[in-house]
Amino acid sequence: MNQQLLAFERQLQSSILVQIKEPFIQEQGIELWLKRDDLLHPIMSGNKWRKLKYILEHALSLKAQTIVSMGGAYSNHLHALAYVGKALQIATKAKIRGEQPALLNPSLQDMSDWGMQLEFVARTDYRELRNYQRYDALPELQVGEYWLPEGGALPLALRGVAELVGELDVDYDMICVPCGTATTLAGIISALPENKQALGFAALKGAGFLYDDVRQMLKNTLHHNKDWSIQLDYHFGGFAKIKPDLCAFIQQFSKTQGIALEPVYTGKMLYGLYDLIRQGYFTAGQRIIAVHTGGLQGNRGFA
Ligand SMILES: Cc1ncc(COP(=O)(O)O)c(C=O)c1O
Repeated sequence: MNQQLLAFERQLQSSILVQIKEPFIQEQGIELWLKRDDLLHPIMSGNKWRKLKYILEHALSLKAQTIVSMGGAYSNHLHALAYVGKALQIATKAKIRGEQPALLNPSLQDMSDWGMQLEFVARTDYRELRNYQRYDALPELQVGEYWLPEGGALPLALRGVAELVGELDVDYDMICVPCGTATTLAGIISALPENKQALGFAALKGAGFLYDDVRQMLKNTLHHNKDWSIQLDYHFGGFAKIKPDLCAFIQQFSKTQGIALEPVYTGKMLYGLYDLIRQGYFTAGQRIIAVHTGGLQGNRGFA
């Protein structure tokens, strides 16, 4: 890999596995472990470096000078991209969903401080941008610009995420991960050993389409018959929607486990996992590994 990228990667901390101990989990004979990708880096935390590293390598190999991407006003993806762009001296531009606010929120302010050029895009135009799924697909792209779809969902993202599976040095039955675009889930499936399962938890409502998206991401690979599924019922009303139950769970979890969560992705997944364990969804003796995908900067949107 490119020297600049290797130097950045060397700054990362390790993503340890910690066991989540709760009497009701033990009573079911289940083991729940959390893979602490949130510890990888204070800003490039969770799935962000994993998804971006081979994309950045590709962009640099094409001598791209600017990466153009899209996201919401609290996007973890854009926040991480702006940061890594500054660190690697690659210019970044973002198309932000919705009207320009009178005052930038703290996430947008960080992006702007790190040199990302922000453009605010009407919601209908924003939806259109989702049609451009290749790095060179955005019609307005200028020479030297590289297009990165929403959430960093390019096929090369899977390769970095697959490395997470290779890091697991304990035996396990299932890997659980929150899903936005489900690129992270697809990356995990792509590296999943036989007789293991992957379970995604959709962060958005009505996310049944993610099944087709994952199949599409895995097409042309040998991984289409892996054992995976997605829980669609733990969205709490929609993307970034919260309810008192979820907030109480996150507070209680951070008190008992000493681990901070955010309510958009990992909070919803762990709430769902606790619920499924209580319902007897898993078999006694199973060891489940859930991935903490970071994104704690987004908590500033809920303050
Ligand atoms: C913190 C966090 N967790 C999980 C996800 C979901 O990742 P994916 O879009 O690959 O499903 C995202 C979105 O990129 C995220 O920011």
